[in-house]
Amino acid sequence: MSKLKIAVQKSGRLYDESMQILKDIGISIDNGRDQLKASAKNFPLEVFYLRNGDIPQYLKDGVVDAAIIGENVLIEKGGDIQIVQKLGFSSCKVSIAVPKSAKYASMQDLEGKRIATSYPNTVQQFLDKNNVNAQLHIINGSVEIAPNIGLADAIVDIVSSGSTLFKNGLKEVEVLLKSEAVLASSPLISEANSDILNIIKFRIESVLKGRR
Ligand code: PRP
Ligand code: MG
Repeated sequence: MSKLKIAVQKSGRLYDESMQILKDIGISIDNGRDQLKASAKNFPLEVFYLRNGDIPQYLKDGVVDAAIIGENVLIEKGGDIQIVQKLGFSSCKVSIAVPKSAKYASMQDLEGKRIATSYPNTVQQFLDKNNVNAQLHIINGSVEIAPNIGLADAIVDIVSSGSTLFKNGLKEVEVLLKSEAVLASSPLISEANSDILNIIKFRIESVLKGRR
């Protein structure tokens, strides 16, 4: 019998709630993320624990059939990946922030400036839309430190509680997009696995209704 391969974040903010929602829809997973791959006991499902940024490519290539992933990551990596269902957790924004003391009136204030980010495509699109030229510095984590160490004048990163911005003396000045965790599917998913994914989608829908 066919099994649906689903990717979830190996570590990071989506992990706990991704596993919780699978549990809530009655799917029990044998072992934890140390295994990198685990099978469900009572459902035709295999879970792959992967790095967030790698998941869109695995979906595109059909290495996995589906994923629980932040919409912001899908937007950044682009491609023909379908969102099957919004999951109602891990909501965040992707925002521009500058030092609290910096004067900021509009996007024009970023002309010629250096922006540190882990979301270069999202940022570049936003800059283009606003006709602003800026220099991007790609950093994979702890982006908010960049202005303090003189690496950048501004940053673009995820804002959830706002605590990381606050602790680093930054203020949010523009919101590029809003995001939450979603169930996404590969363009190459087979019909049999599509049927399995639909069962998951329906179960998730009823769990989310119950939570509201
Ligand atoms: C994430 C993200 C922001 C922060 C936002 O970083 O990159 O820095 O969380 O959350 P907050 O608004 O609630 O503070 P994370 O802690 O996951 O670490 P990383 O940047 O090193 O990946
Ligand atoms: Mg961070």
